Amino acid sequence: QAPMWKRALDKRLSKVASRSGALVCLIIRKALTEEKRISTKTSTADLVTETDHLVEDLIISELRKKFPSHRFIAEEAAASGAKCELTHSPTWIIDPIDGTCNFVHRFPAVAVSIGFAVHQELEFGVIYHCMEERLYSGRRGRGAFCNSQRLQVSRETDLSKALVLTEIGPKRDPATLRLFLGNMERLLHASAHGVRMIGSSTLALCHLASGAADAYYQFGLHCWDLAAATVIIREAGGIVMDTSGAPLDLMACRVVAAGTREMAMFIAQALQTINYGRDDDQ
Ligand code: IPD
Repeated sequence: QAPMWKRALDKRLSKVASRSGALVCLIIRKALTEEKRISTKTSTADLVTETDHLVEDLIISELRKKFPSHRFIAEEAAASGAKCELTHSPTWIIDPIDGTCNFVHRFPAVAVSIGFAVHQELEFGVIYHCMEERLYSGRRGRGAFCNSQRLQVSRETDLSKALVLTEIGPKRDPATLRLFLGNMERLLHASAHGVRMIGSSTLALCHLASGAADAYYQFGLHCWDLAAATVIIREAGGIVMDTSGAPLDLMACRVVAAGTREMAMFIAQALQTINYGRDDDQ
C-alpha cells in the first residue's frame, strides 16, 4: 500500500494548498491598496510588511490543522531565525508574498507560492498571481497548468533568439552590482533579444513555464522562490539546474531554468557567480 503521505497527496494536499492560496490572495489584494507597515530584512531593498507575516501564519495554521506531522519552511519564519532544513519528512515550502517590493509599490506582480516535498523530492507546487486570479500548478508526473490550461515551455535552443528573465536579488553593494550588470551584459552581447525583470521570481518562473520567455537565471533567490516553480517548470517540459550546470540544489540560492537543456547550459556557462551563501547555512 502507498505510504500515508502519498495517499493524502492524491486526495487532499493540492486541494488544500490551492484553497489556502486562493484565500490569502483575497487578503493580499485588499491590503495592496491600504497603508502598510514596512520593515527591511537583509538590505534596504529586502522588504517585509505585516501582511507577509499574516499570510504566512494563516497558510501554515491552515495546513498544520490538516497535516499536523508535516514540517514547514517559510520565508518570514526563516527571516526570524527558523532553520531551513529539508529533511525526508513531508515539508511545505512557502513564500507568503513573492514580490513584496511590488506589493509595497502597488506594482501588480505579486504571488503566493506553496511547494511540497517528500524525501527531498519536490512533489507539487501552486503559485497564485494575486492580481490576475491565475493559479499555476504542477504535480510530479501529472503536468503543469495555468488555471485549466496545460503549460508548455519554449523549445528555443539559440540564445540569439531568446527572451531571458532574471531578478536582481537583495544585495546592492558595488561588487554585487558589477557582477549582476556584467551577467546581463554578457547575455546581451551574445545577442539575446532582451533581458527582463518583473520583481517576482515565482511569476517570472511561471512565464518561463508557459513559454512566454525562453530562460531564467538568478543569484540571491531562496528555496521558497524555487520550490513550487521548479515542479511547474519541470512538468511543463523545462529544465531547472544550478548555475554551475550541476543538478539543482534547492538551498544554494541560485538557479538557471530554461525550456531546453542547450539554452540552460549556454546561460550557465556565460554567468559569473554571485555568492549569496545557502538557505540551510543559518
Ligand atoms: C523576492 C522577489 C525578488 C527577487 C528576490 C526574491 P520576496 O522575493 O522574488 O524579485 O529578486 O530574490 O527573494 O522577498 O518578494 O518574497
